[in-house]
Amino acid sequence: MKVNLQNVLSRIEAVYQCGEKEDGTHTRMAFSKEDVKARNLMVEWGKGINMTHRIDSAGNLILHMDGRIRENPAILMGSHMDTVPDGGRYDGVLGCIGALGVCEAMHDAGYVPEHPIEIIVFTDEEGFRFGKGLLGSSSICGIDTEISDEDLDIYGDKRGDVMKSYGISSANVMDAEIKKDAVHCFVELHIEQGPILYKTGRPIGVVSSIAGVNRYEITVTGEANHAGSTTMADRKDALVAAAEFIGSVPEITTENGNQFTVATVGTIDVTPYSVNVIPGTCTFSLEIRDQDKEVMRLIEEKLHARLKDVCRKRNVKSTFTATSGHNPAPMSLWVQGAIERAAERCGYSCCSIPSGAFHDSLVMTESFPTGMIFVPSVNGISHSKDELTLDEDIEKGVDVLLETILEMDRSEK
Ligand code: HGY
Ligand code: MN
Ligand code: MN
Repeated sequence: MKVNLQNVLSRIEAVYQCGEKEDGTHTRMAFSKEDVKARNLMVEWGKGINMTHRIDSAGNLILHMDGRIRENPAILMGSHMDTVPDGGRYDGVLGCIGALGVCEAMHDAGYVPEHPIEIIVFTDEEGFRFGKGLLGSSSICGIDTEISDEDLDIYGDKRGDVMKSYGISSANVMDAEIKKDAVHCFVELHIEQGPILYKTGRPIGVVSSIAGVNRYEITVTGEANHAGSTTMADRKDALVAAAEFIGSVPEITTENGNQFTVATVGTIDVTPYSVNVIPGTCTFSLEIRDQDKEVMRLIEEKLHARLKDVCRKRNVKSTFTATSGHNPAPMSLWVQGAIERAAERCGYSCCSIPSGAFHDSLVMTESFPTGMIFVPSVNGISHSKDELTLDEDIEKGVDVLLETILEMDRSEK
């Protein structure tokens, strides 16, 4: 049994083309018409191999293949198809298309799995539209996403209106929960999005753990005033204070963290936003990630203290609000073992690797035995149109995914 590589490659390309925008960039934002178009392709390809589909109340698209024993817990595969702005070809898509390739290989070989097999295309993994990701996987795991139809996206559109493209509404997303005993395991194939596999020349990574991620919204409030007649001594400039704080984030993170600790300010806004007015407020995001939750807590404490110091010195005020949080998430040892053995049977070298990027597996591992297979990203580039994974590495990734699923199908929990 072998996954048809040409089908995998041409489907990845077809999905990428769905994201083409008028300005020449490729973006498949969650709930957009580009995203819906790509999901419809998955449904059509699934039908071609007799897979049925449903969309749950969180908008997850789920393709289903019957198993020999109907009552057996399902083997789940999948990932996401939404992208960041001007994102790449492979992030998330590989895990969905690779899973389809595995089901196609089984179908073409006449192999009937012992367990039902389902491919999940998760809703809004990236979260850049509403500032909160992992919506579909969190709902499946019964984690309250605390969303409301009144939430506004980056364009000022209401969530309730935006989510109509999937036929869902905020009030019902928790109905998507899947009970723990209905699932045998979940396996996600993904690009590494970092340089380790590429640099070390290894084609397969077995993910040991996914970094935790805490997000905050910080607002610095000073005083908007005339940019010409307010002396430098009299100013309460919110942006200058924010800039001083932001400039210290790398140093504080490096001093108090380890090689995996990262902190990022990714968005920033000032009011009233005028060339001749001193900024009265400055609001920005802060994200902290690490494999150790104690380190994340320490970095939060140090950064918060620095913010207060800077604001005191510059005579402005600040708020520091946590907006979302996930602890570091170890992958199941059972599934990790199956992936390692699968790579060995395929004759591909592999290594254990932590993930700094988060994935739907971050929350899936809280409810179900979960494992991730990584393949190399050329030069470690991702979330960019230059994201590239070589065809030969995609082939190895899907081979290992198939072998892993076959082993999981034979094994008891
Ligand atoms: O942001 C992340 O780590 C992921 O790629 N969504
Ligand atoms: Mn991503
Ligand atoms: Mn991803």
